[in-house]
Amino acid sequence: MSYEFSQFGRHLGCGSGIEELMDDLGHALACGGRELKMLGGGQPAEIPEMNAVWRGRVRDLLQEAGGIERALTIYDPPRGNGRFLEAIAALFRRTFGWEIGPENIAITPGGQTAFFLLFNLLAGRMPGGSRKKILLPLVPEYIGYSDQGIDGPMFHAIAPLIEKTGPREFKYRVDFDRLEITPDIAAICASRPTNPSGNVLTDGEIARLADLAERHGIPLMIDNAYGAPFPGIIFGEAAPFWRPHVVLTYSLSKIGLPGTRTGIVIGPPEIIRALGSLSAIVGLSNPNTGQQIALPLVESGEILRLSREVVRPFYQEKSRLARAAAHEAFGDDVDWLMHRGDGSIFLWFWFPGLPITSRELYARLKKRGVLVIPGEYFFYGHDEPGWAHRHECIRVSYAMDGAVVRDGLRVIAEEVRACGKAAHPGLPARA
Ligand SMILES: Cc1ncc(COP(=O)(O)O)c(C=O)c1O
Repeated sequence: MSYEFSQFGRHLGCGSGIEELMDDLGHALACGGRELKMLGGGQPAEIPEMNAVWRGRVRDLLQEAGGIERALTIYDPPRGNGRFLEAIAALFRRTFGWEIGPENIAITPGGQTAFFLLFNLLAGRMPGGSRKKILLPLVPEYIGYSDQGIDGPMFHAIAPLIEKTGPREFKYRVDFDRLEITPDIAAICASRPTNPSGNVLTDGEIARLADLAERHGIPLMIDNAYGAPFPGIIFGEAAPFWRPHVVLTYSLSKIGLPGTRTGIVIGPPEIIRALGSLSAIVGLSNPNTGQQIALPLVESGEILRLSREVVRPFYQEKSRLARAAAHEAFGDDVDWLMHRGDGSIFLWFWFPGLPITSRELYARLKKRGVLVIPGEYFFYGHDEPGWAHRHECIRVSYAMDGAVVRDGLRVIAEEVRACGKAAHPGLPARA
């Protein structure tokens, strides 16, 4: 028997490139044995101090009167637990002076769901039949957004300027000359730090994007999955930013609680109310456990100290070691560059002039037991032909065990070397 699927079902329920890839990674992980070097996923690292905090909190919930019941046995209101919403608003009010209250906050089952709801709330087919899109001011951008439009592709993306920032190092910059807000743009969106590149949009870039959005009466969305102030996986200066037309997303995943599926959205009350309505229809209510585990850490501000003193230094040291290992593995006989390590849990490699696509490189690496993510997947929404750069990059997670990262990088360098590729064509302003 075969069933007929709707447009929605055909678009979202019949597989996608990224589902195939994630499946591939999942199976490889399940069956790959000890030899497998899993550098492909977005799994955060195991940080012993953070795991001890979670264990302690679960113990407290078991001992507190009504603690475990609050975490497990009730439906919270669709927008989230009232006390948690107030705690988040108060944390940002006293830390940054932002004039926000619980009416500016909604909880979702993870940041991923927050974006699914936000994108489809603002863009896609509009009343009257026109279509609106989300503008990505810079690609590569997070692979998880790419297939989220319920009735088809919904992104318009701009290629970045590429600036050489050091030996073997480059940084993406927003190309403001090309950034045009046409009437079909519903919102601007960027992750900061960016998954996959680890780029952190500068305070200046964020302010310019916010001005642009405000002038055109549209929201600016900033995805802080790795951002400040929590989990705080940012290694340079980058100030958290909010204005009344800005939508910020946060998540408890990368601070160490991906299993609780806790996303936090800060935004204009009109959008927040709509998220509550959508949550009620799609899921009645949101997972409570993460909110109850994190509540005292948010109320006391301890979540900021843990981010600053535990999570950030942990990843910064891992990033330093992984970068040193990359220099050792690639040396000077391969044409390679790495994006500047501003934040996130990834290394982003660029092999200028790579004679095979990054998907082919991915397949060759997989045969050798090293899993990465091919760069092509992060360049959606941009169809300028002939932009070789989109086929020349890979994303490598450095969150895994240091020895696994080092061995994986050595194999990647061997494979790139084995491609016997053409001479380095130089570093043009736009590759
Ligand atoms: C940039 C970015 N945004 C959002 C998410 C979604 O994370 P979660 O749904 O676990 O909060 C991720 C996950 O890796 C991410 O990298």
